[in-house]
Amino acid sequence: MQKLLISGKKELSGKISISGSKNATLPILAATILAKKVKLSNIPFVKDIYTMIELLKFIGLDIKIFKKKKSIEIKKTNQTIKTLAPYRLVKTMRAGVLVLGPLLAKYKKAKISLPGGCAIGSRPVDLHLFALKKLGAKIKIKNGYIIAEAKHGLKGAKITFPTISVGATENAILASFHASGTTTLKNCAIEPEIIDLVKFLNNLGAKIKIENRKISINGPEIIKRKILHKIIFDRIELGTYMIAAALVGKRLKFDKINVKIIKNEIEVLKKMGVKIKDTRFGVEVLKSKNIKKINIITKPYPGFPTDLQAQLMVLMTRAKGVSKIKENIFENRFMHVPELKRMGANIRISGKVAIVTGPSKLTGAEVMATDLRASVSLVLAGLVADNRTIINRIYHLDRGYENLEKKLKNCQARIKRI
Ligand code: UD1
Repeated sequence: MQKLLISGKKELSGKISISGSKNATLPILAATILAKKVKLSNIPFVKDIYTMIELLKFIGLDIKIFKKKKSIEIKKTNQTIKTLAPYRLVKTMRAGVLVLGPLLAKYKKAKISLPGGCAIGSRPVDLHLFALKKLGAKIKIKNGYIIAEAKHGLKGAKITFPTISVGATENAILASFHASGTTTLKNCAIEPEIIDLVKFLNNLGAKIKIENRKISINGPEIIKRKILHKIIFDRIELGTYMIAAALVGKRLKFDKINVKIIKNEIEVLKKMGVKIKDTRFGVEVLKSKNIKKINIITKPYPGFPTDLQAQLMVLMTRAKGVSKIKENIFENRFMHVPELKRMGANIRISGKVAIVTGPSKLTGAEVMATDLRASVSLVLAGLVADNRTIINRIYHLDRGYENLEKKLKNCQARIKRI
């Protein structure tokens, strides 16, 4: 099994190019079920994307990968479409459940494996099913599969989500694409990745409008023969490397990004004393001393993202005084805490809150990655720690970070995979 070796305390400088967003690519790939011919660019070639591609191929789409150009072409062929997402392709990646909406919309039926739990919590799909039922789908659960049907097609409806969910909002938008009449979704997630999905669907021919947390979809639409779409940048990857820069950066530059999308995260880092400068094409993080304590609550966008909670916690260990971070989205997302404690962090958990007392000197240790974001927080801790850190189970990292070692090595980090 592969491991990462990191020798910490090396200052980083240079430029890190940010990949396309994994969380935008996944629902857009699912949306290609609705299209005829699509070319997508700025694709991050990480494990989860390959899994989704495998699922679409299994369903019957023709997919060509152009790795060097970071693009893929997807075509509908005359091959019979399978309206099935088997367990083996959904169990490792929950986003597989996103093919439910488009299959149901276009082919009026779908059989999708229930994704099950994962390291960060039970992660049910009840909100996805709630929305699809409101659109007229008949749904039953049998032998671990969601079996959904809409014999006469889906019908537009007014749906208010009881709680905000990224995946359920995406599935509902995708299902509504071919629904007759108008669908109004209220209390929606409005993450930049959802805005990118809507941009893709509007380009395809849909009429979707977003107003605060309300999304209206007018269907059904005539779809275009061929479309091109460039995936937005990965704001979580950017946030992760900005935190790396705050920990051990001398001067790190990030170009070709839209700073507005992560202005709240930048505000948090600035409050913590991180020196961030706007540049012509993005931002630059300068050497930052005297990191300050802060209290944060994770929330749906535009709030502070749960996907940056573990990384920010590493920065909190450098701050003088007591910082607190409340995890409001997932019930079990502090798996990195015991590992950070083994590296010398002073962290206590009280219910949903992690209480970090700093500054503490981190020292290298052999640690275990548990999920995608927890893994990268251990990489950050390794970069700032004395001595050598060994990270096990790094397959979690490969699910979502493209060329992590290469990007860090280019900025002088001492990191290698064995
Ligand atoms: C997406 C992101 C993930 C991110 C999360 C929150 C992708 C591929 N993944 O995951 O990286 O951490 O948003 O920003 O985009 N919930 C229910 N019932 C449901 C659906 C969700 O109770 O049917 C709960 C979840 O357990 C969780 C909360 O709602 O507590 C938010 O989850 P959700 O926004 O749906 O996350 P995902 O779409 O799975």
